[in-house]
Amino acid sequence: MGRAVRFARRTALVTGAGSGIGRACARRLAAEGATVTVADIDPAAAAETAELIVKEGGAARPVTGDVSVEDDVRAMVETAAGDGGRLDVLHSNAAVLSREVYGRDLDLTEMDVEVWDRTLAVDLRGAMLCVKHAVPRMGAGAAIVNTTSVSALVGDTDHAAYGAAKAALISFTRYVATMYGRRGIRCNAVAPALVLTEAARRAMTPERLAEKAAERLLPDPCEPEDVAALVAFLASSEARCITGQTIVIDGGTLAHRPEHAIRQAREAG
Ligand SMILES: NC(=O)c1ccc[n+]([C@@H]2O[C@H](COP(=O)([O-])OP(=O)(O)OC[C@H]3O[C@@H](n4cnc5c(N)ncnc54)[C@H](O)[C@@H]3O)[C@@H](O)[C@H]2O)c1
Repeated sequence: MGRAVRFARRTALVTGAGSGIGRACARRLAAEGATVTVADIDPAAAAETAELIVKEGGAARPVTGDVSVEDDVRAMVETAAGDGGRLDVLHSNAAVLSREVYGRDLDLTEMDVEVWDRTLAVDLRGAMLCVKHAVPRMGAGAAIVNTTSVSALVGDTDHAAYGAAKAALISFTRYVATMYGRRGIRCNAVAPALVLTEAARRAMTPERLAEKAAERLLPDPCEPEDVAALVAFLASSEARCITGQTIVIDGGTLAHRPEHAIRQAREAG
């Protein structure tokens, strides 16, 4: 049996769609019939995703822009709404994960305030600007999905700016759901733990991968396509009764007491 086609004649905007999770989400929405605008700060990456989708038989157009810049977001939404002027799906997924910003989001006592500001500008203000410009183009049945992270739900010894921005995004998701719910516009978020994008695969040592496996309940790591399946569900009318929610997709990493993982690792030797 073929895959469902839930987005025929729908328009979608995916930010940070030049690679990783955003690319997988853009491909999935396009495979299910959406005309997808692939937005990314990296023009070559956006073009590559759009070309890939077209090669796969889908409809996509790339747009280059920075989600923290209002004029860029306005242009992304205008491109996505196209001639019909209507946007059906917004997936706010862009985050700054560069070495210069995310890589310097370390000990707060030594943190350069620009790292904090840039993280919040891209990861949080970016989502706000997308909503600001997308909602006027949306009607009943439209859906917004934000990509947050399990880093929003637990503490860590680094990446406080990232965690704070992603936590605010969970609250923001509820506010957007509340503001526009009566218009039939839904807003939800997905919160992944480690997702094995190409960049994550490159960055992870075998030891770190083993640690992550020990933290999970399920044997397999999450792939970008797993997140794309969840995003497509939340964006589709099958999720018409779900709004204001954040769905954790983490192979069970946060579903148990830490002792369980420690015991398992000890038993495995
Ligand atoms: N991969 C993981 O393990 C993981 C886990 C939890 C959450 N996430 C979240 O998933 C989302 C996607 O992450 P990914 O792992 O696919 O990363 P990625 O680096 O592969 O993709 C992020 C994309 O966003 C683009 N981008 C960066 N800054 C931008 C800006 N200002 N404007 C527009 N585009 C911009 C980048 O060019 C890149 O193509 C992010 O929100 C990230 O926080 C990822």
